Amino acid sequence: MDESQSYLDHAATTFPRPPEVLDTMLAQFAAMGCSPGRGGYDMAVEAEAFVQGVRQRLASFFEAVRSDRVVFAANATDALNLAIFGLARPGIHVVSTRLEHNSVLRPLYHLQQIGRIEYTLVDFDSRGFVDPDDIAASLQPNTGLVVINHASNVLGSVQPIGAIGRICAQNGIPLLIDTAQSAGHVPIHMTAWNVSALAFTGHKALLGPTGIGGLVTAPDVDIAPTRFGGTGVDSHSLSQPRFFPQRLEAGTLNMLGIMGLNAGLDYVEKIGLPENRDREMRLLSRLHQKLSAIEGVTVYGSFPDGRYVPVLSCNIADVHPQDAGTILDGDYGIAVRAGLHCAPLVHEDLGTSPHGAVRISLGWNTTETDIDRAVTAIADMGAAR
Ligand code: ALA
Repeated sequence: MDESQSYLDHAATTFPRPPEVLDTMLAQFAAMGCSPGRGGYDMAVEAEAFVQGVRQRLASFFEAVRSDRVVFAANATDALNLAIFGLARPGIHVVSTRLEHNSVLRPLYHLQQIGRIEYTLVDFDSRGFVDPDDIAASLQPNTGLVVINHASNVLGSVQPIGAIGRICAQNGIPLLIDTAQSAGHVPIHMTAWNVSALAFTGHKALLGPTGIGGLVTAPDVDIAPTRFGGTGVDSHSLSQPRFFPQRLEAGTLNMLGIMGLNAGLDYVEKIGLPENRDREMRLLSRLHQKLSAIEGVTVYGSFPDGRYVPVLSCNIADVHPQDAGTILDGDYGIAVRAGLHCAPLVHEDLGTSPHGAVRISLGWNTTETDIDRAVTAIADMGAAR
């Protein structure tokens, strides 16, 4: 992309990566891209130490208790599948919300269809928030899991996980959170919030490559393995190890991804999470204010009061959102995501089904120029109708 273009689809995948993330990742992979935890030669030992270092770092980042409870996976969807299938004992009831992405809705629906679980989806309010009391009111004697999106990928609203975690802890129910849209944007206090398991992805605000993410769990949570294979340890046994992370990790790890994720975390630390958050909130506020002032534009979320990640969805007069996305790209060089954003129930409740909305999402390199370019393009498009 050149300077006349704006990438505003960071909630899907951040782009471009900071050049030093790419350089570091490639240099480390060139020097140490072997199988960690398998061979006894120096490079394999060094690679294993590197991976353990990244687990430790992620445990600190999410404020988890133990680094062996950091399990690598392909992305947040993959990690959510690991957790949901591994925690959903036959006959349990699960509580989730209508804010969820298909990464939660589809596994739950599938498990219900095969007769393994039942579930209840709690509503959200007009600003995109779930009321913890509604979670409490949905619990049943056989509720065995609560799963919730930390930040909505459509509305940007960040849920009160601390309050929800207290309810889950009081009732002895594991709480699983999806941090795909929050990790890297807002601080996450996994242990203080009583979170049992947390799914994350590396390719959004953690500034890493696609194909790397993970599941972080509390030390007392057991998750049954749903995939099996080589771990480099206990090879004599036909059973998957009982200990973590190998219990949930089978096969050679994504070393390039882990290196990229580590370099992304370096960059997040370098720019500073609080400083980056302030900058993003200023930009979100500017976008929200300017778009809300345009006649014919409906803004659905992101009242920038500190409880949001930098995501805003809107519609423009009677322009079909897919057309708006195509025009923004073709005529103005602005990349956004239009449609249902894999979160069909959010759009149902907003009244934007079946076509959805235009989503503008900001990231580490977004500038005021990008925001103003998007506002001007949307104002032009509205005026042309
Ligand atoms: N889940 C990602 C998004 O919301 C891909 O765009």
